[in-house]
Amino acid sequence: METTIKEQLIQKLKEKSTKVAVIGIGYVGLPLLVTFAEAGFHVVGIDSDQRKVDMVNRGESYILDITDQQLAPLVKKGFVSATTDFSVLREAQAISICVPTPLRKTGDPDLSFIVSATESIAPHLHQNMVVVLESSTYPGTTRELVLPRLIELSQLEIGRDFFLAFSPERVDPGRTDFTTYNTPKVIGGITTDCTEVAGTFYSMALKTVVPVSSAEVAEMAKLLENTFRMINIGLVNEMALMCDRLGVDVWEVIDAAATKPFGFMKFTPGPGLGGHCIPIDPLYLSWKLRALNYTARFIELASEINTQMPRFVVGKVQDALNNDKKPLKGSHILILGVAYKPDIDDMRESPALDVIHLLKQKGAKVEFHDAYVPVIAHDEWSLNCVSDLMAEVAIADAVVIITNHKVYDYQAILSASKLIIDTRNALGPAGRDNPKVIRL
Ligand SMILES: NC(=O)c1ccc[n+]([C@@H]2O[C@H](COP(=O)([O-])OP(=O)(O)OC[C@H]3O[C@@H](n4cnc5c(N)ncnc54)[C@H](O)[C@@H]3O)[C@@H](O)[C@H]2O)c1
Repeated sequence: METTIKEQLIQKLKEKSTKVAVIGIGYVGLPLLVTFAEAGFHVVGIDSDQRKVDMVNRGESYILDITDQQLAPLVKKGFVSATTDFSVLREAQAISICVPTPLRKTGDPDLSFIVSATESIAPHLHQNMVVVLESSTYPGTTRELVLPRLIELSQLEIGRDFFLAFSPERVDPGRTDFTTYNTPKVIGGITTDCTEVAGTFYSMALKTVVPVSSAEVAEMAKLLENTFRMINIGLVNEMALMCDRLGVDVWEVIDAAATKPFGFMKFTPGPGLGGHCIPIDPLYLSWKLRALNYTARFIELASEINTQMPRFVVGKVQDALNNDKKPLKGSHILILGVAYKPDIDDMRESPALDVIHLLKQKGAKVEFHDAYVPVIAHDEWSLNCVSDLMAEVAIADAVVIITNHKVYDYQAILSASKLIIDTRNALGPAGRDNPKVIRL
């Protein structure tokens, strides 16, 4: 009996004789590429950024989660290569798309990267191919945006000639216990055959695959996860604002609540939301729902509270300096940690940018130190990381801890400083009841 295209493709995926292409080799795509290669696939990374392509081909990593020691042998043995040229897709049977999904200045989804990647794939789409979209986006994107473009240019039939699915990327950069390999992978296809082929593809390299009934379920599952985080962070940030009014220590309240062994999950407040996912993905959902005449109220409220946090932090700095009879204008402020979360180098959407901008607007002289970020660029200014951290701590009128990287010696910083505004409880109990420490 003749085998179908689906059966042939599944067989080739199981033998790992398919060539894999990862489109967009950034924070998500590079670890995915390495995971497929470590599983024994030959993988090509396609990226519009020539610098990243050249670095991969030299075996050099540009993200902290992947080391040169991991990447270089895979390049040397021929399992990994990179290019800007989509025509290599003629040789590939499996594609993962990991391009950015930011917001436009208006706050609306910017799907131009998905559209452009899809239009670059389409001329090279051929029978016996599976395409998986990984970029976080609103429900319906895979079916309504990607599928028609692939079909129009290729004239192939979905679910018979080629297969298309959505599988959200859940990687948490900087994390070592759950990586691309062992974080369960939800996969939903355009058809059930699409789910089966895409599931087989990923199960050959990843530990656990979780098939769901449609691409829309997979798209929505990712948005539920990130909306859950955004709203809980919004809630705990509002707790911090309320505790501030009440004169109650929010950190002690959270620690006390977290002793409950069930029904409570610990979230911590901070200077605002950051990163490419949590502040952005829920807004993709609320945008989509607006078109259906529905207001996503939790998302809008949490977003409003979270975006006010940088202003609250600047108010705290101003009040603390005022107690020392100093105006914010002209004061020397050292921002400690600017990445959007601890122990990584990613600055995207970091609340540090807003805090620094507001401080500068009020005339403060702002410097920063971050163990992982050498320079930060804003539309209106740029700053270089100070070279001598402890010298800056000693001369600053106030040190503002925005990101609690583990590498810092907080005790030494506390001893050397005049005033600290600790937005992350980085100083722990040493910061409590200490007159020169103001906590969120
Ligand atoms: N970074 C995270 O922690 C994280 C976690 C989960 C999900 N995601 C999602 O994964 C997706 C990718 O995020 P990221 O952080 O890896 O972004 P990134 O900016 O680090 O990487 C994206 C890469 O895609 C390339 N690119 C853009 N358009 C392209 C095109 N048309 N053709 C080829 N290459 C192109 C860029 O040059 C870049 O190297 C986003 O949708 C994001 O929301 C990110």
